[in-house]
Amino acid sequence: SLAASRCATAVANSNIALIKYWGKADERLIIPRASSLSLTLDGLSTSTTVQFGASDADSLTIDGTTQQGTALNRVSAFLDIIREKAGINLPARVTSANTVPYGAGLASSASAFAALAGAACEAAGLDATPRELSRLARRGSGSACRSIFGGLVKWNAGHDDESSYAEPVDSGDMDLAVIVVLISGEKKPISSREAMRRTVVTSPLYDAWIDSCQDDLDAALAAIRQGDVERFGELTEANSFGMHASMMASRPAVLYWLPETVSALNAVTSIRDGGLGAWSTMDAGPNVKVLTDGRDAERVADELRNRLPDCEVQIHRPGDGLRFVR
Ligand code: PMV
Repeated sequence: SLAASRCATAVANSNIALIKYWGKADERLIIPRASSLSLTLDGLSTSTTVQFGASDADSLTIDGTTQQGTALNRVSAFLDIIREKAGINLPARVTSANTVPYGAGLASSASAFAALAGAACEAAGLDATPRELSRLARRGSGSACRSIFGGLVKWNAGHDDESSYAEPVDSGDMDLAVIVVLISGEKKPISSREAMRRTVVTSPLYDAWIDSCQDDLDAALAAIRQGDVERFGELTEANSFGMHASMMASRPAVLYWLPETVSALNAVTSIRDGGLGAWSTMDAGPNVKVLTDGRDAERVADELRNRLPDCEVQIHRPGDGLRFVR
């Protein structure tokens, strides 16, 4: 029935970029300055239900808390894109639940906008392909376009709405895991959107980092084809440090690191010096993520716990792409 088609639920996992996205070529359409590569992870997911026509205005509830202001406005603006495509003019009730607490520094916009894109399309009766869902999710938050797919995913930067989308990458026999070292659950001092803008406009190191991204991506894809986790890890760590160096060179500086961040980064080096494969990567926050061979994950996690007794350390394995709950 029509009423039934106006309500839908979708679940998406978060993803961690290994070759990063930082900086836009088009702010409105969210076209990135460079292509990126990520791993979708299990255990960090968002489940979202969208119901059109059941309320007087758009509403948003995250983990039981009603949202107003920026969060609601962002969701409303995103729903406008869907409403326009579907030719409907109904307010939506959006209810969202995360497997990690919202605001803990891990409940990311990637899983949130991927799940919202899926649920909103389905509820609006739009028949979207995974690639179209990826392009739509991108409009909510760039990194969300990669969470439509599971495992290793490449976001082709493209040059317009149609050419900027994510697609899965064959991981062959590679068995990967990402270990999250939780350093702080505080809200970030500056949003990734604002920090990207500042880096692009003011950092003298930004263009050099962007130039390195295409080489890093090509080399990472070659390493994946060869099953060379060590080479892939080295590229991952170098690309992340380069991104943070470009941020720190912004005027004024964008610095997400805390003292414990440096301890965690040094712990990763020391674990590697001990002969275990472990490589760090960081996003727009103080938490450190560690890429490792899936078969080493438990040992690397134990080594991290020994060196960082005050941090929560959690292993995440590759996760699936978007799924609909029917
Ligand atoms: O999608 P956004 O606006 O949350 O940006 C994500 C940026 C990084 O997490 C730092 C890197 C990435 O590629 O996910």
